[in-house]
Amino acid sequence: MSILRSPVALSPLEPGWWVVAPAAQVPKDHAVTITRFGRPMVLWRSGGRIQAAWDGCPHRGATFDGARVRDGQLICPFHSFAFDRDGACTAMPCEGPDAPRRGLELRTLPSRDDDGLVWVWVAEGQPTETLPWFPDLDGGYPADFVETFEAPWDLVIETMLDYAHLPTVHAGSIGTKMPMAMKVEQRRTERGLVMWNAPAAENGSGELYWEAPASWQLKIVPKVVNAAFFVPIDAARTFVVFRFSQAFVRVPGLGDLIGWLANLYNRKVVEEDRRVIEGMARTLAVLPQTDRLVAADAPIAHFRRARTAWMRGAGSEDA
Ligand code: FES
Ligand SMILES: [Fe+2]
Repeated sequence: MSILRSPVALSPLEPGWWVVAPAAQVPKDHAVTITRFGRPMVLWRSGGRIQAAWDGCPHRGATFDGARVRDGQLICPFHSFAFDRDGACTAMPCEGPDAPRRGLELRTLPSRDDDGLVWVWVAEGQPTETLPWFPDLDGGYPADFVETFEAPWDLVIETMLDYAHLPTVHAGSIGTKMPMAMKVEQRRTERGLVMWNAPAAENGSGELYWEAPASWQLKIVPKVVNAAFFVPIDAARTFVVFRFSQAFVRVPGLGDLIGWLANLYNRKVVEEDRRVIEGMARTLAVLPQTDRLVAADAPIAHFRRARTAWMRGAGSEDA
C-alpha cells in the first residue's frame, strides 16, 4: 500500500513554539488569516500584542480574514459579533446588549510576538517551553525574507541539516571547494542538536543547530548567523522565515543594506535547495520509498531521533 501525501491533509499538531509569520505581516487595524498545519488561523493585534486563534466565528463559522479590529476587539465580518483578546464574545449586536454570550468563544492559541516574529503554541494545553531561540541572534540586526516550499516541512528541514549535499547542490555558492567526503559530528543540546564538519572550527564557524520543534541556525561566525523557522502550511507545503543577523553594524540604513546584500546571496542558496527539495517531494508523493541512509546522512538520522524523543517528551533519548 502506498502512502500519498495530500495537499489538503492535516499535519499533526506537534507541541512547541512555532513561528507562523513575521510580526510585520499583521496590520494594526484588521485581522489576517494564514493556513498552518492545514488549518486556517487568524492573527490580530490587541493590547499591544499579536493574538492568534484558529479561524472561524463561533456563531456561524465565518472567516475573520480582513476583519476589523476596534479597540483591540475582533469584529466578525458576518454579523459584527465582537471578541476580546482572550477570545470571549463581548457583543452580539443583533441580540441587544443583555443577551447571554456564554459558549461563544474563539479557539484561541497561546501566542507571543518576540523579536519581530509571531510565535504560536498550536498543540493542546498551555506552553511548557521557552521559545526555541539561539543566543547568537541576541542583539543582532535582523534581515528577514520568507519562502514557501512545495514540500513537507520535515523534508525541508532535513535538507537544511544535510552537510553532504553542499559540494553538489551548492557548488556555485556556499559549497564551492568543499571536499565531497565529510565527517560530521554532533552533540545533543537540551532540546535539539548541534552539528559540525570535523575538525571543528574554534569559533564555531560552520556549526548547524536545530532546536525543537523547527528552529534552525547556521553559525557563520559568532554573532553573524543565518537562521530559519519552519512551519507546515499543510502536509505538503512549508512556510519558512529566513533571518540573516549580524551584531556588528546596527546603524539603521547601513545595517539594512548589509542584511539586504546578505539575503541576495542567501536567496540564491535557497533557490538551489528548492530545486532539490521540491523535486524530492514530487517523487515521494507518487513513488513513496523507504530512505536508505548512508553514513554521511548521519545528521538526518540524528534529527529524526531527536525529533522522536522531543515528540515523546523524553528529551533524553540517545541520538
Ligand atoms: S458568523 Fe460571526 S457574527 Fe455571525
Ligand atoms: Fe542546501
